[in-house]
Amino acid sequence: MSEKTLKVKGPFRIQGDVEVPGDKSISHRAVLLLALSNGTAKINGFLHSADCIATINAMRSLGVEVDLSNPAQVTIKGVGLFGLTEPEDIIDCGNSGTLMRLILGILAGQNLTVFLTGDDSLRLRPIDRVIDPLRSMGATILARAENTRAPVAIRGGDLAPIAYTLPVASAQVKSCVLLAGLFARGVTEVHESRPTRDHTERMLEYLGARVRRVPGGVAVEGRSPLEARDIEVPGDISSAAFAICSAAASPNSSLTVKRVGVNPTRIGLLRVLERMGADIEIRSRRVVNNEPVADVAVVGRQLRGVTILPEEIPDIIDEIPILSLIATQCYGTTSILGAGELRVKESDRLQAIKDMLERLGASVSVEGQDIRISGPAKLKPCTIDSRGDHRIAMTAAMAGAFVDGVVEVRGADCVDISFPGFDRFLAELSSDNAGKVTL
Ligand code: S3P
Repeated sequence: MSEKTLKVKGPFRIQGDVEVPGDKSISHRAVLLLALSNGTAKINGFLHSADCIATINAMRSLGVEVDLSNPAQVTIKGVGLFGLTEPEDIIDCGNSGTLMRLILGILAGQNLTVFLTGDDSLRLRPIDRVIDPLRSMGATILARAENTRAPVAIRGGDLAPIAYTLPVASAQVKSCVLLAGLFARGVTEVHESRPTRDHTERMLEYLGARVRRVPGGVAVEGRSPLEARDIEVPGDISSAAFAICSAAASPNSSLTVKRVGVNPTRIGLLRVLERMGADIEIRSRRVVNNEPVADVAVVGRQLRGVTILPEEIPDIIDEIPILSLIATQCYGTTSILGAGELRVKESDRLQAIKDMLERLGASVSVEGQDIRISGPAKLKPCTIDSRGDHRIAMTAAMAGAFVDGVVEVRGADCVDISFPGFDRFLAELSSDNAGKVTL
């Protein structure tokens, strides 16, 4: 990975009526949960990205049949809650924290011994946050670096239910414990101080599991069977965010993203943009397999800086890089407070954001868990290294919209982690004006 360079020539407006590839979080969960269902079902709009393909490969190595012959429609033959088989080799989770954390929840309930690893980035990310609750439910788990980093070995078995309060606001940890709860004898409860994305709960409900919301959390009754039901994956709002934010902040831009997921736990960025003064409209709202979907229309204008509080962070966790970029174009200061979780994403994103914005000539400071950006700044042409982080690569590419000259993004291949075809998408959005994208 990380050999390709993406060159983006600016400045340009963003224009178009587009769709984005399927939601990454929902695609992972669709494969994991349908694999545990009783029957065969189809996933439409599955995200064929490196992360989600890693999930398919993982489930195949556990004995699940996945038919990819029609890329528009992935077919999964579920094996039931206890039908997985032991893989002959180590499961490679690649770059995907979601896969590693969620699959450990499933494996905790299986009478199997399984080894998991990941790429250089994933092996640096904390895994103790899921090991701790799974051990307390009865799974045996060993991991490198005093049980904090992958590779990981897990021996699952009979699990006891727990009531668990999340020490960090993480949907991955919540989902891991809920999935383990599916195999426990009794009711497992997860409590969170700040709500995180709830796709796991919604999909479990849709597939007929006994799940209910409780004050401050969610409860799942163990051993409730999952029904095989087709799932339609909406467009990923986190992928759409690159275009939505850039369009919102560049006057004369006009963009509609169709058929995108607008789950309330994922659209913090729209709320922040509205506070910045953006012109955004959510149209044609509907619900598809328990997930809200809509078209999002945005017209560009001059924005103003805002303060983003720690309790808002989970709802914008993946959009902070692109929000930071457009904060350079806002009048006044944007303060993003309590964003410490960014240190343990695909890269240390706090550092990556600071370095990127400094190279672009913006005024940015990072202190502790907080980022402060003052604008508006005239951004300058430069070269930015993605650090193998897909969201940093795509944010750097979007900086081209605001630069008089070329932004070169080194190591741009990592965009395939979540947004295959991003370069074509960007070329199309900027095609009727000055923008030029080359790979
Ligand atoms: C995800 C949850 C988030 C997010 C990640 C996907 C998920 O991570 O950053 O890209 O699918 O559950 P955390 O829940 O660990 O913050």
